[in-house]
Amino acid sequence: MSEKLNVNGQAIELVQGDITDQCVDAIVNAANSRLAGGAGVDGAIHRRGGPSIMSETRRRYPDGCPTGSAVISAAGDLPARFVIHAVGPIWQGGDSGEPELLASTHRRGLELAVEHDCHSIAFPAISTGVYGYPVDKAAAIAIGTSAEFLDEFSKPSTIRFVLFSRDAVEAFTAALRSVKV
Ligand code: APR
Repeated sequence: MSEKLNVNGQAIELVQGDITDQCVDAIVNAANSRLAGGAGVDGAIHRRGGPSIMSETRRRYPDGCPTGSAVISAAGDLPARFVIHAVGPIWQGGDSGEPELLASTHRRGLELAVEHDCHSIAFPAISTGVYGYPVDKAAAIAIGTSAEFLDEFSKPSTIRFVLFSRDAVEAFTAALRSVKV
């Protein structure tokens, strides 16, 4: 564990690793609004979780999921119980509502986790890959939204960010250290 922050007795943790390895109640997918699958986190989740995840999302969410929101499915062959498919914004320079949309993506993911009695949830660095969001800016929003959520609701018990690259770990560590609780 590289870093941890306690908010109201709950934890925000950072680890470097692969989201599909996480033994938590719910892992978050960096999905697209058609829920069509893709590369990066999305590719890894569907590869390792198997075809039942896509069959379920096609059946339950035929219209996909708007940017800034999230939907939930079972997790197929993954160690987690649920996959929360969260759609972050595509970076367009920062003046097209991206910060609000990225915050709302995280909030909706956390709400779904709590509604499904998840005590632990693992997020990737949503929007920072194919969608091009600068990782330092995305980290501040992801961590800030999580700290506000825990401050308000005191659950889930653990919010973990699972980061692939050293750069992402550094950006999220800086964001975590700047939270005032
Ligand atoms: N575990 C954890 N993090 C990962 C993994 C993994 N297995 N694979 C990639 N990452 C990291 C990337 O390095 C990046 O920092 O997750 C972050 C998010 O990258 P993307 O998966 O590209 O997600 P995003 O930027 O939100 O783009 C979403 O990409 O794959 C498509 O279908 C997806 O269209 C959607 C878009």
